[in-house]
Amino acid sequence: MTTAFNVKLPPVPPSGTFYTAVWGCQMNVYDAQRVSDLLTASGLLQLPEPKGADVIVLITCAVRAKAEDKVFNQLQSWRHQGIIDDHTVIAFGGCVGAELAAEIPKLNKDVKVVFGPRTAHRLPELIKRWHETAQPQIAVEAQALEKFDALPDQGARGASAFVTIMEGCSNKCSYCIVPYTRGEEVSRPLQDIIDEITLHTANGVKEIHLLGQNVNSYRGDDGHGHTARFSTLLYAAAAVDGVERLRFTTSNPMEFTDDIIEAIGDIPLIADSVHIPVQSGSDRILQLMRRHYTGDDYRTLIAKLRKVRPNIYVSSDFIVGFPGETEADFNDTMRLVDDIRFDQSFSFIYSKRPGTPAAGMPDDTPLELKKERLYALQEKLEGFAAQYSQAMLGTEQQVLVEGLSRKSAAELKARASNNRIVVIDGPQDLIGQMARVKITKVMAHTLKGELING
Ligand code: SAH
Ligand code: SF4
Ligand code: F3S
Repeated sequence: MTTAFNVKLPPVPPSGTFYTAVWGCQMNVYDAQRVSDLLTASGLLQLPEPKGADVIVLITCAVRAKAEDKVFNQLQSWRHQGIIDDHTVIAFGGCVGAELAAEIPKLNKDVKVVFGPRTAHRLPELIKRWHETAQPQIAVEAQALEKFDALPDQGARGASAFVTIMEGCSNKCSYCIVPYTRGEEVSRPLQDIIDEITLHTANGVKEIHLLGQNVNSYRGDDGHGHTARFSTLLYAAAAVDGVERLRFTTSNPMEFTDDIIEAIGDIPLIADSVHIPVQSGSDRILQLMRRHYTGDDYRTLIAKLRKVRPNIYVSSDFIVGFPGETEADFNDTMRLVDDIRFDQSFSFIYSKRPGTPAAGMPDDTPLELKKERLYALQEKLEGFAAQYSQAMLGTEQQVLVEGLSRKSAAELKARASNNRIVVIDGPQDLIGQMARVKITKVMAHTLKGELING
């Protein structure tokens, strides 16, 4: 017989309101969306701004020192503005949560809960324990896939949804902190991913964006005693009823195997853009970075991709001023950019991350010189991106209408297959739908399009 003493009551959900702030990559955006669903299911009401929120959840990024500083600066400025007070529960999560863990409440005394990418699902319980004990709650360690199983089903996401297919990274590139914040790489079972995609398409999602630090090395349980590779997942995801466009991020050039290239050639639903970070065009620097490919390996890979998909747009990430980078190394990067003709890409000055192998490498290039190199690279990259945009003028494009344009409620914001934003005039019932448009104007960062009827 059950007595009052051993009845296990469900945890009392925290009540009140919450706000979620997110920095960093798309995997953090995915985590933030799932945390928002979780807190909503726990009885909290999500606010669009931090003011007045009882709980503020921070999903943070540690990839560069600046990204990390931004979070602490944000907390201080909210304090000064009176947006947070002693009663606000600051729940500090994401990659900095895992990196600094117990240090964080010492660095900022407003922080009451610390969690990491792997423990996002424990947030309601950690908040509750803070209320019970008034002691900072720190929980960053967990099995890699625990969070996916523990979180409630996903809510509506609009036209496009992120689906994380793996957690962590085991590559240990010499400059990168991610393997230490998100842990060793583990792939989700194939069926779990397909179920998540199916749920999204039932909610009207048209575009699925698969996420992982290195999606090429996806090795998930296929449910029949075998391991599914990334190419198998691409075919399976494209076959889900209702998927109209498929994207994936990020692909490390290493392990971009022929089966993946073949799948990209075979599956027209895969968008015309791939993000394949090269980091540098110098073989010497790539070796110091522990990237396991050369500039020419990268050239060969892109040539193969363009053979199966001539219209594919290739974007990349670059690190400028890696320890010991010479003018000759940098020129190798510029030469690679000319050879590949990258589309819209990201480039940053190397940031020393504590605990990574590169942090101990001598770095005597002056910051001013690194900045000069960065600007020269960015100018070149922007030149190619602008040329690609210009070449779209007058062309017909298939776009996915994502919502209202930010500037005017009379305009819709849509996305072309090559990832460019296209602003169109059109009825609001097009939101969430695919549409055909003709590009009528090319502006600095967006395009203007006209609907093609019929
Ligand atoms: N897993 C992806 C990259 C994820 S991190 C890949 O390997 O392709 C996103 C980008 O941050 C990287 O591509 C790299 O360009 C940049 N980055 C990582 N560590 C950095 C550091 N210490 N300094 C500057 N940029 C860095
Ligand atoms: Fe970092 Fe390298 Fe892993 Fe990318 S592949 S997350 S750069 S360690
Ligand atoms: Fe940043 Fe973590 Fe992503 S360090 S880039 S949020 S994996």
